[in-house]
Order: sequence, then structure tokens, then C-alpha cells
Amino acid sequence: MREFVDLGVSIYDPDFTLNPYAYLHDLYQHEGVVGFSSEGMQFLFKFDDCRTALYARQFQRGQENPAAFKREADYASRYTHRARHLANHFAVGKPDLKLKALVVRMVNTIASTASFASVDNILAKLSRPGRLDDYIEEITTVPLRIFLETAGIPYNDGDLQRLHVSGCDFIKGFEAMDDEALIKLMDDGSQVVQSFVAQRLESVSEDSVIYPFIEEARAGGFSEDNIAISLLTGPLIDTSNTFGITSAFVLRTLISHKSAWQQLKERPELIEQDNVIQEILRMDNHVKVLSRSAVDEVDLNGYQFKKGESVSLFFPGLNRDPAMWTNPDQVDFSREFNSQNNLIFGGSVHTCVGVRLSNTFMKYLLAGLLENMPDAIEVVEDEIEVDGSWLAERIITRMPILVG
Ligand code: HEM
Repeated sequence: MREFVDLGVSIYDPDFTLNPYAYLHDLYQHEGVVGFSSEGMQFLFKFDDCRTALYARQFQRGQENPAAFKREADYASRYTHRARHLANHFAVGKPDLKLKALVVRMVNTIASTASFASVDNILAKLSRPGRLDDYIEEITTVPLRIFLETAGIPYNDGDLQRLHVSGCDFIKGFEAMDDEALIKLMDDGSQVVQSFVAQRLESVSEDSVIYPFIEEARAGGFSEDNIAISLLTGPLIDTSNTFGITSAFVLRTLISHKSAWQQLKERPELIEQDNVIQEILRMDNHVKVLSRSAVDEVDLNGYQFKKGESVSLFFPGLNRDPAMWTNPDQVDFSREFNSQNNLIFGGSVHTCVGVRLSNTFMKYLLAGLLENMPDAIEVVEDEIEVDGSWLAERIITRMPILVG
């Protein structure tokens, strides 16, 4: 009989967010432990269980029970931008795989044509001695800047800040079924980006990278809503609340794991290897919790889920499962990743559309750090601030850095 055991700390506690392995390492060993409970919710955190929940047809994204359907219908009538967004951007049920394939091709084209010259000055700041208090505010907007510039969508600094904040607000409501304040924040976030897109869509020029994809979507019979949300609003929001937020976690990992940093300096060619990128993202990234619910009764490696029962998957837990990785709390560039041991970008039908774009961002970030970051650099750990009481992601909102 497997059971969920009390974690003994809030899932929202910043220390748990920043050091999850310290809280979980004993729990991995107990076969009777299927997961942990915290804040009245249940979380899977072992790799095999999470993989089963992501791949088994009996589990679907979101909540699948009458109370959740009723609440969702109520939200949809009052939070219309959120509803429009969710209906058009793979968020509920199964994604439209034809539309998803088109979005992936568009995002991959942006990845292969992106130039980072306009943001090199941001990384150069790491080479100047002193204390950087607001550095992550700048570095976390780089992916959005690059996306807008490469896609040929005009923006000014005010747009950039508003869009970035809106992308982060949007994700706060993503797994927050019961918290209406977060649902409203999600609605507001989507509204800001939707109206930005509405103002820009008609003026996307024919020679921009995204124009052929918009035309292809129209010719393929996709609706204007599909196009505005899936091709534009979605990726703009996702770029901020994915790699934007992840940049801060990556910076923290590389600054605080000195031997990994030395290896990269001695062998800079490592940054071209996908497994090196995966390993840095395995250590930490923005994805914290994603939920699934059982559409049927299902046995999860010895734990019985009832139809309609929901469960959350704690990604930092599965990424550090010692059954999968020796010394999981250490960076090890010799690790090899494959479809059996890697869920960093999800799995099955909901696999991430931004894998290649993230790899491009990551290579740029690593190259820029190698060029600019000195060995004498520290994160002021006890001044790190992590945003809030919401589930899907955690945002490092403050991370002072001391450059020696
Ligand atoms: C470090 C970078 C990233 C990581 C670790 C990551 C991780 C993930 C994971 C774990 C999922 C699966 C969600 C689920 O199963 O419920 C996912 C889905 C998704 N990601 Fe990413 N992601 C990253 C970057 C991006 C970027 C840059 C974009 C935007 C262009 C993006 C767009 C999406 C979308 C649209 C989905 C939903 C796909 C679907 O449901 O079919 N991601 N991502």
C-alpha cells in the first residue's frame, strides 16, 4: 500500500523552492511513499510515477470532475480573455496536433534565425566589479526581446516591461483552480498581451519571419483566434514565463556550482552539447508543478487513483530522483539524456513547443557567461526572494549578485 506523506514544509516556502533535495532525499528511498502532501494538495515527485502520469492515457491535464467543470464554466463567463486563451492554446484537453506542429515550426524558425547582438551589453554587465541588485530584472526579459525582434514585431521598452510582467502574471493562475485572485491576474495578463497582438497583427510585414506561418495557418483553415493566440499571444506569454524566468535559475546554478563552471571554462566546446544544456536545466528551471487528473480508475505503481482524482507533479523532485541519477544534487556533464530518463520538457502529447528555442537561448546565455563572468562572483543567497503562493512556477524576483 503506497501513500502520500506530509512534507513538513509548505510547497510555497522559498527555502523548499531553492533547496528541494534537502527536503526530499530521505523520502525517495521509501517504496511505500508515492508522494508528499503540502498545503492540502498531493504531489508526485518520483521519476517513474511522474512519467507514468504524463504518458498514461488515463491521466489528462487539468481537473476532470463535475465540480471543476462547473467552476471552469463560471470562470469562463467572467474571465473572457483567459477563456479565449485557454481555448486556443493547448491548455485544456488534448492539443490540436496540426496546429501545434505549425507553432513548433514557427518557433524553431525563430530559434534558427535569432540574433542576440542587441542584448550583448546585458551580459557584459557581469564583467564589471560591484554589486548587481536588479540584474535578473534585465536578464529575464532577454528571451522576450529576442522573440519580438526576430519575429519582426515592433515594441518599445514600455511594451517590453508590460508584456513580461503580463506573461509572468498569466502563469500564476495556470494551476490555481481555487484562487480567484490568481485567475483574475491570469485574465489580466492575457488581456494585455492579446490587445498588444491585436494592435500589431495587421502590420506584421510580409518579409518578417512569422508572416508565412500566419498565412499558412489561414490557408489551412485555422481561425483568427487560433492565429492570434496560438501563434502570437501564446508564444509571447510563454517566452517570458519559461526561459525568461529560467535564466535566473540557470545563473544561480552556474554561479553556485563552481566546479561545473570551471569545467565549462576549461572546455567551452561543452556548451554546444545538448546533454550539457539538459543537465543545467535538470538542476533547476522555472517548471515546478503541473497537474493531471485521472479520467478513469488507475493504478499508479501500487497506488489506486479514483476517477476524477487530481494529482500534481513536482518537477524538481522528478529531476533529482536518485533512482535515476547518481548524486542528483550535483552538476555532472557526463550524464546522458534520453526519452526514458528525461522529462525536463514534459512528455507525450503536451511536450514543450519551445525546446529548440530554449536550447538557442541557453547556448547564447552560456556563451555570454563564458565571455563575461569572472570566477569571483557570488549570489547573495540569503537575500534571494521568490514569488508567492502559487503553484505552476516560482519566480525569483530578487537575486543580488556580487561581482569581485
Ligand atoms: C527552460 C525552458 C523550458 C522548459 C523547461 C519547458 C518545460 C515544459 C514542460 C515540462 C511542458 C509540459 C507541460 C505539461 O505536460 O503539462 C511544456 C509545455 C509547453 N511549453 Fe515549454 N518549457 C520551456 C520553454 C518554453 C518556451 C521558450 C516556450 C515558448 C515558445 C514554451 C512553450 C510551451 C507550450 C506552448 C507548452 C504546452 C504544449 C502542449 O500542451 O501541447 N516552453 N514546457
